[in-house]
Amino acid sequence: MSNITPTTYAVLGSTGNCGTALIEILLQKPNARINAYCRNRSKLHRLLPTAADDKRIAIFEGNIADTALLASCIRGCLAVFLCVSTNDNIPGCRLAQDTASAVIHALQSTPSTNTLAPPKLILLSSGTIDANFSRHVPFLLQPILLRSASHVYRDPARGGAPAARAGALADDPPSRISDLAAAMVDVADDAEGRWDGKNVSVVNTHGAAKFPTMTVHNVVHDTAHGKAVIYALTKADTPWGPYKNEHALFLWFDESGTEVDRIEEMFDALVMKEFLPKIQEHVARQKAEAEAKAQAV
Ligand SMILES: NC(=O)c1ccc[n+]([C@@H]2O[C@H](COP(=O)([O-])OP(=O)(O)OC[C@H]3O[C@@H](n4cnc5c(N)ncnc54)[C@H](OP(=O)(O)O)[C@@H]3O)[C@@H](O)[C@H]2O)c1
Repeated sequence: MSNITPTTYAVLGSTGNCGTALIEILLQKPNARINAYCRNRSKLHRLLPTAADDKRIAIFEGNIADTALLASCIRGCLAVFLCVSTNDNIPGCRLAQDTASAVIHALQSTPSTNTLAPPKLILLSSGTIDANFSRHVPFLLQPILLRSASHVYRDPARGGAPAARAGALADDPPSRISDLAAAMVDVADDAEGRWDGKNVSVVNTHGAAKFPTMTVHNVVHDTAHGKAVIYALTKADTPWGPYKNEHALFLWFDESGTEVDRIEEMFDALVMKEFLPKIQEHVARQKAEAEAKAQAV
């Protein structure tokens, strides 16, 4: 029989990029139990097939405004990860605000006891809206990033004061979502509360992240229909070799013509087909090196 005391974490938005990455990281901890809130259980099973049979995961399916459901999901948890969000630039987006309010209602509805400390609340955000975290983003790129998700960044909870807020630079390589999730778990587990009330980001310890250079070759504006098309070439040096791709970006603007409602991007899929396995190999090599180092200590 195992004598490890279980620690429970709630993941709200468990079917998202960050939510699934968090569950994968938490499952690596032998004592972790996960309360996964989602809107659609079968979607979670599809994304994380092991979740269906893993006794360490309890699934809470329903509406985020269901206080009773949310209260049972977060009761007794060490931390609640608030990852209900979107990567679509939805006008009037209040997902983070509505989730934060729902969690507060759920906490208020739970009678306090001496044995159950309230959980740490960790809100997924974006480094793009933090002046300090985005200080190395190229001057011309920053306004584009801010515009591309302007409605999501204006979500009122982003300006509030949660227990800890975690964000990463949106342009980091794809592997970074797992780094961000791992950092969020570190924040949750930090018994000294060093990150409480702070914005937390991920630092690249393998040298500064290099942004690809982008050369815009053509921009077509269709002002009458609020559309634009950009054709550009990107180039970057990476630890696994040079990267080069071409992109066509289609942008739809709102009525004011100043905010982007939707972006669709096309790029050379053959380049990515060759490039992505190289990233995965690089990440696996780094993981193996880190594990070997940890075992040697
Ligand atoms: N992805 C990244 O690399 C990254 C890095 C740093 C920061 N961020 C920030 O994180 C945010 C996006 O996170 P993500 O990539 O994890 O998003 P995502 O993959 O779109 O996941 C969003 C999650 O929220 C849930 N959700 C959406 N609307 C909901 C609603 N009305 N009620 C209940 N649940 C709802 C979704 O459920 P369904 O599956 O049912 O739709 C999903 O589980 C953005 O603000 C971005 O700036 C992202």
